[in-house]
Amino acid sequence: MFAADRNLALELVRATEAAAMAAGRWMGRGDKNAVDGAAVNALRYILNTVSMSGVVVIGEGEKDEAPMLYNGEKLGAENAPEVDIAVDPIDGTRLTALGLAGAISVVAVSERGTMFNPKNIYYMNKLVVGPEAADVIDINLTPEENVARVAEAKGKALDDVTVVVLDRPRHEELKTRLRNVGARIKLIPDGDIGGALLTCKDRGGADLLMGIGGSPEAVITACAIKCLGGSMQCKLWPRNDEDIAESRKRGLDLDQVLTINDLVRGDNVFFAATGVTDGDFLKGVRYEGREIHTSSMVMRSRSGTIRFVDSIHMPKKLSELSKVSGIEYSTV
Ligand code: FBP
Repeated sequence: MFAADRNLALELVRATEAAAMAAGRWMGRGDKNAVDGAAVNALRYILNTVSMSGVVVIGEGEKDEAPMLYNGEKLGAENAPEVDIAVDPIDGTRLTALGLAGAISVVAVSERGTMFNPKNIYYMNKLVVGPEAADVIDINLTPEENVARVAEAKGKALDDVTVVVLDRPRHEELKTRLRNVGARIKLIPDGDIGGALLTCKDRGGADLLMGIGGSPEAVITACAIKCLGGSMQCKLWPRNDEDIAESRKRGLDLDQVLTINDLVRGDNVFFAATGVTDGDFLKGVRYEGREIHTSSMVMRSRSGTIRFVDSIHMPKKLSELSKVSGIEYSTV
């Protein structure tokens, strides 16, 4: 059990800040691997200083030669508390490499054994809404019906509704249907964790997120939405017959509607995210010579507390530390 007064998210944010600062140096340099590698090193180093015994349940795949936080990797400095970790060092590596908006660094933690493992299925169909429409969505209904239900729950006209959709060819039909019903679409090039967070933003956000995106990102999104009080439903989305056969072998139910509580059980979920490039929710990293500025959000589901943390870091001092830790805060 966690001590009642310990909010792990306040410690996790140091890791996402470090990852964002290290990866942000590579913005616009066109090198996705450098972006990811910098974030991975920083996250691993800081997470290993946190008093917890963590296992990466949602990481970047199986262990191989690439720098990655792999599924099954143990992180943390002590034996207790025992936790599951979901991590996306950079959601939006391509965005960062191209200098585009919306990349964040993210970590979520929950009690051991509570996070869903999507095994071989890389994608899920996702439906996410904020608190006001939490009780009305149903992923087995049509997009049109869900938009109508959300509009009614929020007292909006259909053409007031904004839906976040990943810009992918697989979403052509979804986009046409949403347009026909009158909804506005916010197409995002990448980064559907940040896109989902927009559904919980008071004003200037979005009403729903719909469509197919990464399974790891779905579990991390569930952690965030649980803290924010919204709702989310997903279905595993196999890409081909091989995926279907393999998931049968591995005991995954492809028809199951995965709710937030299936994706992350219990009510002791901690979430931290830091902006890497400027986004609708969080500002990206600002390098100001003697200082580096970061913006983060820090949440805990049990208390429901949401914090926005603006930090000022001293690169000179961090460079001294990085000699010890191996984190690069500068590429020059
Ligand atoms: P990474 O930056 O971690 O690679 O993920 C970016 C992302 O856009 C996710 O936000 C999204 O869930 C997933 O990729 C979608 O996958 P794909 O690009 O294969 O459609």
